[in-house]
Amino acid sequence: MAAISAYPPLAELRGRDLLSSADLSGEQTKALLLLASDLKAGRIHIDAGGKTLGLIFSKASTRTRVSFSVAMARLGGQTIDLNPQVSQVGRGEPVADTARVLSRYVDALAIRTFAQDELAEYASWASIPVINALTDLEHPCQALADYLTLQEAFGSVEGLTLSYVGDGNNVAHSLMFCGALLGVNVRIGCPVGFEPDAAVTEHSSLLAAAHGGSVMVLHEPEAAVRGAHALYTDVWASMGQEEEKAERQKAFAGWCLTEELVSEADSSAIVLHCLPAYRGLEISAGAMEGKSSRIFDQAENRLHAQQALLAALLVDT
Ligand code: CP
Ligand code: NVA
Repeated sequence: MAAISAYPPLAELRGRDLLSSADLSGEQTKALLLLASDLKAGRIHIDAGGKTLGLIFSKASTRTRVSFSVAMARLGGQTIDLNPQVSQVGRGEPVADTARVLSRYVDALAIRTFAQDELAEYASWASIPVINALTDLEHPCQALADYLTLQEAFGSVEGLTLSYVGDGNNVAHSLMFCGALLGVNVRIGCPVGFEPDAAVTEHSSLLAAAHGGSVMVLHEPEAAVRGAHALYTDVWASMGQEEEKAERQKAFAGWCLTEELVSEADSSAIVLHCLPAYRGLEISAGAMEGKSSRIFDQAENRLHAQQALLAALLVDT
């Protein structure tokens, strides 16, 4: 059975952090998707040799938390919950102290928090890999699973169009970076005032130009999805924006991903959502459960993509 050395672009990832989708090269992103699909199909088995992943989650999570735990178990390792509620993190122990202490016990940290700067601060003090398990700015592990799902549906992702409709949020940002690296044409459709971060749009557009893809921001749902191969949406109010919920529902009127909108896309288009979803708001029940939906395959792929990522960060080639 092949070893991780069969995926040469991954060699340089050993010991590194993943704070942003843009931390990876196009070749590394492709190799991670290949390894993930080989792990999923049982074509390769990797033993990480009893390693431990610490999980510091300051926001709720079902998929990310469980898929990281199962991925570590499948690699022969384990996870420890270090959430603020059960550790001194919640009582204000400085990041600099927490990161240095945990680096003596565990082999990697997966962190879900609010500010990207806090994640970067953990990474700057830790001597072990730090993985972004979602911040307000990015969700890079999600994007790997999303493009793995697109790759499974179409064989390869290069040259395809992925249209994300909704809030220009963390999920959109990582889809832009990761898609750009893979040569995908990424369209973000959003109401005026809910565009992706300008710096992310600029950086991802440059990456896309260098890899044969494109990044576009549009303000009309039909124009955003026309002819696309994947239609994607996410919640209108992310974690931390609960108080804006009512105001956002008004602003996003007309932006629900419905079957009618799906019919504007390519006839082979797939429907994606990172979950959790609110049926009747950002996505209709029909689009979620319809024949084009790959949403539950996508959720499964979190496990395979993260297993590949952990193997690349933790296992010697
Ligand atoms: N998609 C996602 O990250 O789900 P969780 O919030 O349940 O981890
Ligand atoms: N944008 C959402 C994604 C949840 C997985 C949030 O940050 O809450």
